[in-house]
Amino acid sequence: MSLLEVTDLRVSFPTSDGVVQAVRGVSFGIDAGQTLGIVGESGSGKTVLTQTLLGLTAGGQVSGQAVFDGINLIGLSHEALRKIRGAQIAVIFQDPLTSLHPLYRVGWQITEMIRAHDQSVSKAQAEERAVALLHRVGIPQPRHRLRDYPHQFSGGMRQRAMIAMALSLEPKLIIADEPTTALDATVQAQILDLLLRLQRDSGTALILITHDLGVVADIAVAVMVMYAGKTAEMASKHAIFYRPHHPYTKGLLESIPRSSAARDRLRPITGQPPSLIRLPAGCPFHPRCTYVMDRCLSEEPPLRAVAGDGDHRSSCWLPTSAAGVSDEAEELRRQTVAAGRTGAAAAVAEAIAESPEAEGSVIA
Ligand SMILES: Nc1ncnc2c1ncn2[C@@H]1O[C@H](COP(=O)(O)OP(=O)(O)O)[C@@H](O)[C@H]1O
Ligand code: SF4
Ligand SMILES: [Mg+2]
Repeated sequence: MSLLEVTDLRVSFPTSDGVVQAVRGVSFGIDAGQTLGIVGESGSGKTVLTQTLLGLTAGGQVSGQAVFDGINLIGLSHEALRKIRGAQIAVIFQDPLTSLHPLYRVGWQITEMIRAHDQSVSKAQAEERAVALLHRVGIPQPRHRLRDYPHQFSGGMRQRAMIAMALSLEPKLIIADEPTTALDATVQAQILDLLLRLQRDSGTALILITHDLGVVADIAVAVMVMYAGKTAEMASKHAIFYRPHHPYTKGLLESIPRSSAARDRLRPITGQPPSLIRLPAGCPFHPRCTYVMDRCLSEEPPLRAVAGDGDHRSSCWLPTSAAGVSDEAEELRRQTVAAGRTGAAAAVAEAIAESPEAEGSVIA
């Protein structure tokens, strides 16, 4: 049985401009000790999805199920969720200062967290644990650094301290939400390495959220690509990288910088993500999709199994066998598009081809 099984989760926010449909029916599972990467551009619903599991989406209307270790988290009382947060599911955010209080010493914050969840632990015991944790995440002179305030740590060190806090209660699941986005490339690689090593050592399950598909290349076992609050594609990491089906996934792959020299040749995804208040009809990706066909403008594609791999699913009307980057797959797509683009889709495709971003600029 999965450690966490999310089924048809939906989250919307009523606002004065209309209803923001942030998460629109997402399902996935993660087993104990497994790593899942959730990837998508900014605004695709990644944070709302995971914050909802922890009861942290204030003002959102939520439906669906999220069964963690046999308990449905959706609709659980604040008190029950507070007990699960930290002790069973820990979160690491992009900005450690959202979790580390600036006015308290790092060591005090870790020891208080340990003692809040287990009152039988003495102050001295909690402090010893904090020293061991800081040591484990690679903070030099941990006993000394316990007395520092968060601002005395560098960005990378603060992220290490956050990871120490996340590990302190030995959770079954860690959710890392863009944990390295604010860090420079070298520190980013060190922190990802650390997360991966700790996750392997402790057998904790890990959900790694990122806008950069390149980040999951070294870390995730399974990948879910999100677009406009839905699952665009879901598969093993290998299938996502070598047999992508959804044009959005292909676009993300083509926008990964493989080296700084390759940056110039990157192909960006044309256009912007849609408004989640006024979603386009049909496939939400159609205003940006170079394969757009007539039916894409009016019929929203369901998540379907991709041919040849039971765990690989994609929400796209292209043939289920049109996966991968081979010439054959591309030819199959080309033929399907030629037959399926007779009316209005031709004008959409033309507009995409003529948009200024279609010429070479790089996605940030
Ligand atoms: N409390 C809220 N009220 C209204 N809209 C929200 C709220 N929280 C998030 N959103 C909207 O939900 C969408 C998804 O946001 P988010 O999950 O943060 O995206 P991501 O993490 O993928 O960048 C965005 O359009 C965001 O503006
Ligand atoms: S359904 Fe159509 S518009 Fe959507 S991704 Fe597939 S080909 Fe593109
Ligand atoms: Mg986010």
